[in-house]
Amino acid sequence: MTRDLADYAHARKNYPITFSPFVIKNVVIPNRIVFPPWVINFGDRGKVTDELIGFYRRMAEGGTGLITVGAAGIIDEIPPGYEGALSIAHDKYIPALRGLFDVLKSYGCAVSLQIAHNGRQALAPPPGTGALIAPSAIPDPVLSQLSPDYRVREMTLDDIDRVRGRFVDASYRAVQAGAQIVEFHAAHGYLLHGFLSSRTNRRSDRYGGSLENRTRFLSEIIEQSRSRIGRDAVICVRISASDFLEGGLVPEDYETIIPLLERAGVDLWHVSVGTQTESFERCTPVKELGEAPHVDIVARIKKYTSLPVIAVGSISSLKTAESILSGNNADLIAIGRSQVADQDLVKKSAEGKEDKIRKCLRCNKCCFWLHGESRMHCVLNPDYRKKR
Ligand SMILES: Cc1cc2nc3c(=O)[nH]c(=O)nc-3n(C[C@H](O)[C@H](O)[C@H](O)COP(=O)(O)O)c2cc1C
Ligand code: SF4
Repeated sequence: MTRDLADYAHARKNYPITFSPFVIKNVVIPNRIVFPPWVINFGDRGKVTDELIGFYRRMAEGGTGLITVGAAGIIDEIPPGYEGALSIAHDKYIPALRGLFDVLKSYGCAVSLQIAHNGRQALAPPPGTGALIAPSAIPDPVLSQLSPDYRVREMTLDDIDRVRGRFVDASYRAVQAGAQIVEFHAAHGYLLHGFLSSRTNRRSDRYGGSLENRTRFLSEIIEQSRSRIGRDAVICVRISASDFLEGGLVPEDYETIIPLLERAGVDLWHVSVGTQTESFERCTPVKELGEAPHVDIVARIKKYTSLPVIAVGSISSLKTAESILSGNNADLIAIGRSQVADQDLVKKSAEGKEDKIRKCLRCNKCCFWLHGESRMHCVLNPDYRKKR
């Protein structure tokens, strides 16, 4: 069981903070390691499948303390390429998601669901919709070149009302399905991040212009979700603390954004960086950036808040995790690719078998969309061989 890993003398001696529990509201996270949200496309038109349960079950067996499932889409319309992603756009998705969360909780880990709207980031609009929607009609420079069907339009105020409502409904469904944490995806260039950044938000109404205005949409979503799901549920927001792009968001912007969102009801911050297309090399850090390249940015964000913070980005060992935690640069550590390459990374580290860990190559072959593929695979892990 995940919570028993702290019984290993090696874990207590070498990773005392990593294997200490973290409590947020009523949620006990048995250790500080998080599996971050990954769209793996093992679902079936929004629904949980046995294969998807298998993926997360292996992660739970490996001892990670908090598993973030998702991203799950909040609207019915599915853009091309996302047919295998999860959805939380309707009550019909709740029972199977609850089944998944029950399995994961039986291993002793805590569970979170990330909820998201693509915004302008897809190869083409969902069938029948005519265009992707975004704060402003600014095409994604990468995706718009890849597909002749790419179209984007500016959201009307009616769109803003509708999408806000869909986020609030989705947050309620996530809690009904048993998610202990609801994570709003406001990072990596997707819709909510698009509103925050002046590169993608050129609106002249109350949702654009000043940083306060650009934060308004997300702030309203959080506030209304909080009143819908009640005080006990944990609300996490995943941010891109820096766009790493000319004229984009910089960490200092969050000195303004964070208090606005905390007043609306945030409990936990998940600090990533970059966008999925233009600054992809930061978002899923390339090998050349080395180990934990964004810890200084996470530490900066931590100065702007008294709430707990999750760090992420090329953290490949519990040695690095322990050092980030002991430096008080973060409270929880998300490890994505290194846990996909070896789901037993946490357990093996607790047992003192670090030399047996299959080490992620940072080759980014798992970023299937970059390679024109339809689902996740890993070149190292035999459990996730490429399907032909
Ligand atoms: C296949 C894949 C899918 C991803 N899907 C999401 C997602 O749905 N939501 C999200 O916020 N980040 C997503 N990410 C980014 C990861 O959550 C994480 O930030 C990234 O893998 C960097 O962490 P790492 O260096 O530990 O792998 C994805 C990354 C990969 C490789
Ligand atoms: S495909 Fe490459 S980068 Fe992705 S998890 Fe496997 S080894 Fe790591």
